[in-house]
Amino acid sequence: MKQTVDFLKMKRNQEMITMVTAYDAPTAKIVEDAAIDLILVGDSLGMVVHGHQGTQPVTLDDMLLHTKAVARGAKQTFIVGDLPFMTYHRSIEDTVTNATTLVQTGGAHAVKLEGCTGLILDSIERLTSGGIAVMGHLGLTPQSSTVLGGFKVQGRGEQERTKLIEDAKRIEASGAFALVVECIPESLTKELKDILAIPVIGIGAGKADGQVLVFHDLVGLTTGYIPKFAKTYANVHDVMLQAVEQYRDDVKRELFPDERYTFKDVKKERSTSV
Ligand code: KIV
Ligand code: NA
Repeated sequence: MKQTVDFLKMKRNQEMITMVTAYDAPTAKIVEDAAIDLILVGDSLGMVVHGHQGTQPVTLDDMLLHTKAVARGAKQTFIVGDLPFMTYHRSIEDTVTNATTLVQTGGAHAVKLEGCTGLILDSIERLTSGGIAVMGHLGLTPQSSTVLGGFKVQGRGEQERTKLIEDAKRIEASGAFALVVECIPESLTKELKDILAIPVIGIGAGKADGQVLVFHDLVGLTTGYIPKFAKTYANVHDVMLQAVEQYRDDVKRELFPDERYTFKDVKKERSTSV
């Protein structure tokens, strides 16, 4: 399994870092089998798995359940778990407790948190000093989309750009091992990756030290809105739809189950295993 130091080495060697989200054991296994460097149990699960409009409804219990499943499915891959909405804003003690739960009970190797307030910087320091690796997240931070005024490109213009660079430096100085930047201009991403020693992992941020995509967007399983920056590499939604439609037709036409899928009486058949 790759460790945080390996991601630093990869940046230094200009080897691209790959990260994909997963939310359950079978998808985690797929991501691991594809030799992706890190798995993110993202709170995007609120949208792509649970059908919410944003990530604000996601709770620590939700994250814990999904992180456990991912950890069972991918035992050889570095797993980052998102700290969900308002679980790292009350106090540092509270943040430490919640992060510890995701790591100790959930099986994550690191946690990710959004933004850069004073409390967050102190929390990054406390968590890393205690042994929990932390990934930062700047730019479009979906948990605060209401405050940001929706899902919009961030870091445009001199003022926002300077602020984001300062925040990124502070996150690095606090001990984070990597930084996700979401929906910012590529020129800003380039500047960030030159300034920071830690890897900058982009989503909707152009070329960076690595990239992250949401599993359901990547395989074409997302129903509804797919962001402009997400490249869809398959159409798994249609594959699943066709399978279920064929099953429906087979049952309606009494083609399923045929004898291959049917048990005979004990006298005629020796094996009773299913
Ligand atoms: O929750 C998530 O999937 C994320 C990525 C988009 C970075 O935070
Ligand atoms: Na997230």
